[in-house]
Amino acid sequence: MAKWSGIVAVVSLTVFLMSVTAATVLPIHPYLKVEDTFISQLYDTSNYGFLQIDNGLALTPQMGWSTWNFFACNINETVIKETADALISTGLASLGYTYVNIDDCWSRSRRNSKGEMIPDPKTFPSGIKALADYVHSKGLKLGVYSDAGIFTCQVRPGSLFQEKNDAEHWASWGVDYLKYDNCYNLGLPPQKRYPAMRDALNATGRTMFYALCEWGIDDPAKWAGKIGNSWRTTDDINDTWISMTTIADINNKWASYAGPGGWNDPDMLEVGNGGMNYHEYKGHFSIWALMKAPLIIGCDVRNTTADTLEILSNKEVIAVNQDPLGVQGRRVYSSGPDSCQQVWAGPLSRNRLAMVLWNRCSKAATITAKWSAIGLEPSISVSMRDLWKHKVVSENTVGSFSARVNGHGCEMYILTPQRATRSSI
Ligand SMILES: *[C@@H]1O[C@H](CO)[C@@H](O)[C@H](O)[C@H]1NC(C)=O
Ligand SMILES: *[C@@H]1O[C@H](CO)[C@@H](O)[C@H](O)[C@H]1NC(C)=O
Ligand SMILES: *[C@@H]1O[C@H](CO)[C@@H](O)[C@H](O)[C@H]1NC(C)=O
Ligand SMILES: *[C@@H]1O[C@H](CO)[C@@H](O)[C@H](O)[C@H]1NC(C)=O
Repeated sequence: MAKWSGIVAVVSLTVFLMSVTAATVLPIHPYLKVEDTFISQLYDTSNYGFLQIDNGLALTPQMGWSTWNFFACNINETVIKETADALISTGLASLGYTYVNIDDCWSRSRRNSKGEMIPDPKTFPSGIKALADYVHSKGLKLGVYSDAGIFTCQVRPGSLFQEKNDAEHWASWGVDYLKYDNCYNLGLPPQKRYPAMRDALNATGRTMFYALCEWGIDDPAKWAGKIGNSWRTTDDINDTWISMTTIADINNKWASYAGPGGWNDPDMLEVGNGGMNYHEYKGHFSIWALMKAPLIIGCDVRNTTADTLEILSNKEVIAVNQDPLGVQGRRVYSSGPDSCQQVWAGPLSRNRLAMVLWNRCSKAATITAKWSAIGLEPSISVSMRDLWKHKVVSENTVGSFSARVNGHGCEMYILTPQRATRSSI
């Protein structure tokens, strides 16, 4: 069953990428005015699709959980196991959150006498292999962390110049994912340091997701598609409105580079960590989903509120993130004070569009999306499904759509054109 759907996905991706590579732009939807320069630039995908690492992973953005945003270095094998259990019992795992990722601080501060990176015996006494076995027994996957420098950011051993041995070790433990950080890098260019680990992971023969964490310093969107399955485009997120919105805007600049096989990574989710309110977290999750960002939960899944779980479990928003077309949505229009009334949108499979009306002012406002701003011909009739109210709010909207949006809040929709003005649907 899993194998069969994998084959279907690979076949459709191959057909899709062939058409992309040939044209260098996506097959634009029939209802878009491709001859109109403004609209064809709107969802520019000219850098998409031909810089693939090709390890079979990341056909859609990765989903899972990581220790860092909530626990930082306060981790141990118990909390990882309890989180794996909680991912199952909350239903999050069955919604696609399957990677259980251990961030910095899992390894002992020095290599052993054989030069091997080993788990901290105080916090991971049973070892990473035992943890991988546990996580796998639940149908989940295990991630570890290292650094393309001589130390990690928390001054544990890094993997620079030790790529081959470390990768073999992780593979022998059954690791499925590597986040690879950028501290203590000796000033060597990332274009030299990151490919070495790609090749080392590949040489193990074990398929491992490769997540670059270069903080966006050397514009990794421009080169990392050949190297990793995702690349951080920004500095670390923190649990504040200013951090989250700043990062969204930076990540937005690289939209044309994302696609199946390799994604822009604006860092992990802060939803549920307490520094933002319900509306702000809803916006954070909606925009991350629309931007085809990795959805890596960063809160304590063992102890979530109903609001947090409602946000993280929104199937319809997750489906936008995991849409097989794999085109990053982006900001297409803004107005109002400080341009805070924003329209973000992106194409989806089956000729649909996803749209977020995002109010970045603190007062409630009415935000209007004109069809011309989101790439629809003005005369087209659209059915609007509200992904937070979970219902169709209009069967036939024409020309534009307006909604009242809470301060620091958002509304999110899928737009399905009721008829096409061209023939090829
Ligand atoms: C494991 O880590 C969790 C989270 O930081 C902590 O609450 C717990 O006390 C730790 N357990 C042990 C045995 O150290
Ligand atoms: C190694 O790289 C090749 C070429 O990109 C790819 O076909 C293969 O699937 C990779 N293998 C692993 C284990 O990642
Ligand atoms: C959080 O991020 C913002 C914006 O990037 C930054 O100005 C601030 O210093 C950060 N706060 C902390 C505690 O790191
Ligand atoms: C659970 O989370 C709440 C905040 O939402 C916090 O006050 C409480 O201490 C947490 N409980 C545990 C056991 O961590």
